[in-house]
Amino acid sequence: MSRRMGALLGVLSAVACTAPSDSLGPGADIADAGQRDGAADVPVGVDAIGDGGDGVLSPDVAPDDEASLDVYTRLRPTCVPCHGAGWPRPMFSSFDAFMTLLVTATTPADDFAYVEPGEPEASRLIDLLDKSEGSYFMPAGTAFIDLEAAGLTEITIAEIEEWIAGLDAIVPPPVDDATPPTDGVLVRRLTARQLVVAAHAVLGLEESDFWGYTTSYGSYVVVKNDQIIKFPVRSPDATPDVQVNSYQFKPSAERRWASLGGPDIGNGRKGNTEISPAFLQHWLQTSQAWCRMAVKKSGNDAVLGSLSLADTTSSSEAAIADQIGALHLRILGEPATEAQREVLMDEVFKVYEAFSNTESAWTAVCSTLLRDVQFITY
Ligand code: HEC
Repeated sequence: MSRRMGALLGVLSAVACTAPSDSLGPGADIADAGQRDGAADVPVGVDAIGDGGDGVLSPDVAPDDEASLDVYTRLRPTCVPCHGAGWPRPMFSSFDAFMTLLVTATTPADDFAYVEPGEPEASRLIDLLDKSEGSYFMPAGTAFIDLEAAGLTEITIAEIEEWIAGLDAIVPPPVDDATPPTDGVLVRRLTARQLVVAAHAVLGLEESDFWGYTTSYGSYVVVKNDQIIKFPVRSPDATPDVQVNSYQFKPSAERRWASLGGPDIGNGRKGNTEISPAFLQHWLQTSQAWCRMAVKKSGNDAVLGSLSLADTTSSSEAAIADQIGALHLRILGEPATEAQREVLMDEVFKVYEAFSNTESAWTAVCSTLLRDVQFITY
């Protein structure tokens, strides 16, 4: 195995140990990632195809990002308690997440930029900090402007405004422009679209499992009920547009798309195939949600094969081991070795079966495979 792949696997296994989680409601699921305090950050900006040659994964910060990094570092202590890893808007879980989910993002409802380069007065982030939005301000509870007045912040609104004023254009997330290695096979992460299509295909899921249509006001796409456990992913550029119903799932579907690397053509952002912290965090939850859907979808044998959830390791251990092997082949495209099958059986399936039930056990095995470096790269 090349050192490059070794580095990649290192990153993924750091995540694998927090996964898979049993409960897939977003709150509970995220809590299981065990990082609510924001202390245990995933490495910043790991390059999808390189480790810089020294075997050490280092923060991948472009020189123009220095000012943004400084703002991130000093704003973070005030915001991370509610926006760290594991929270619904984890924009302070890492520098990469800050850039992806806040600096280059727009408000879900009205597409208003949180940070408008060169124009602090047009940036919603400032409105949130200085209470000019009225009753909706950040941090929730006590506005930044009041914390600043009490000397409780590490940065001032004036400094944040100065940073925004100096941003010529938002620095897009680093694109995959590393020189291709000449000493081995080039490994790239799948794009967001490839990942969605490939995962749906191996899991036996279809668009119609996530989205429905209404003809009451013309033919709009609508999200289906119980979306909260489905983790739909949708490009903001996809047509026809989704009618936002009272469940408001379109914004989170688009945030997930952004975290998986986009692109977002309407907002002028290129696709990003980094294995970034935002990517890892969202793929963890999404792979779990989709595997559970596939396990529960009636008539779908993609995960269970000819078994049912009534088959347990006490009644059918050998058949379950065979099906784990079949799933390995289906998802990763190569047969499992005896050792790989044992790990999936003993350290994943049996653990979740004992802890919860066979539905969780299959979800865990399936989502472990979907997060394997061999699935997410080509
Ligand atoms: C006490 C908890 C808490 C703290 C601390 C906090 N936030 Fe929030 N923040 C929230 C909640 C709750 C929401 C609403 C989440 C939702 O609706 O998705 C939110 C939403 C947001 C949003 C989205 C607003 C929109 O347009 O919909 C932004 C941006 C944001 N916070 C920025 C910050 C920043 C920057 C800080 C630090 C200065 C911060 N928050 C600190 C709780 C907090």
